[in-house]
Amino acid sequence: MKLAIEELENVLNSIKIESAEELENFKLTYLSRKGKLSALIQQFRTVAPEDKKTFGKPINILKKKYEVFLTEKQKIFCEGKKDSNLFDNDIPLNAKKYGSLHPIKITENKIYEIFYSMGFDLREGPEIEDDWHNFTALNFEEEHPARDMQDTFFIGEKVLRTHTSSVQIREMEKGTPPFRIVMPGRVYRNEAISSRSNCFFHQIEGLYIDKGVNFADLKQTLYSFVQQLFGPNTKIRFRSSYFPFTEPSAEMDIWAGLDTEDARRLTKGTGWLEVMGCGMVHPNVLTNCNIDPEVYSGFAFGMGIDRMTMLKYNIGDIRDLFNNDTRFLKQFEGEI
Ligand code: PHE
Repeated sequence: MKLAIEELENVLNSIKIESAEELENFKLTYLSRKGKLSALIQQFRTVAPEDKKTFGKPINILKKKYEVFLTEKQKIFCEGKKDSNLFDNDIPLNAKKYGSLHPIKITENKIYEIFYSMGFDLREGPEIEDDWHNFTALNFEEEHPARDMQDTFFIGEKVLRTHTSSVQIREMEKGTPPFRIVMPGRVYRNEAISSRSNCFFHQIEGLYIDKGVNFADLKQTLYSFVQQLFGPNTKIRFRSSYFPFTEPSAEMDIWAGLDTEDARRLTKGTGWLEVMGCGMVHPNVLTNCNIDPEVYSGFAFGMGIDRMTMLKYNIGDIRDLFNNDTRFLKQFEGEI
């Protein structure tokens, strides 16, 4: 027994521990339940009572020495490791991270602000629509190809709205003229996904109904809007077009230029980017909403917010807007 005590004392004087792993081995060999120190203590329990005095004290001292040794080594290899790896003491206390607005929301806010300054109010409608509000009330013929399965996502009897024009109908059915409102929201179309188009995107619908509203009002309103959003030198053009719910109808393009490869791809080499459809509200639509087309007239427009965002921030691929890559989104931090 005396020998065993001496041996264990020598271990403490000679053993070299240079890593957390070595310390772990040391604990296993000497201090675990089946370790050498435990074995010695077990053995001590069986010695004759007259020998207990002789060995009791040195064994207690030995045990203490092992505990001190262990704590010291743990300070070096375990707590030291904890400090350097688990805790970064250099992180500033005020390093809070806030989210930021998505570029589409930022653009939507800017667009709304401009129309608000021209007297337009904000309205919203549902994304799951019935046929009446999405098509029929908007003067789509029963056979119109836009109702085709290829363009529209159906949910049973209902559809995912293909445009925000459905909200025009809801608002006109609810109220009485005059109307001067903008209606932002998400819309869905069963389209092939590319750098220019996605199967869902965002629109802002505009509606102005009053006595004596004409096409010149439409052009001037949109012209003034574009100058405010993109700056006073922005070039636009109107092309005649067709929508069942407006007559006459037009398409408005913005000059994006041909200077960069993104601009050339986005505009299919023309330099012009189509950003909205517009026109004078068709008399049938007014009638469908119980508004007398002999008394009232008005214009409507529906613009793609995603395309406006791409133009405003030089984004070459619409899919970048929906990948949620934080490196992309971080560029818009601080904008409102
Ligand atoms: N709803 C049309 C579209 O999504 C745009 C539009 C709105 C055209 C209002 C005319 C008037 O393409």
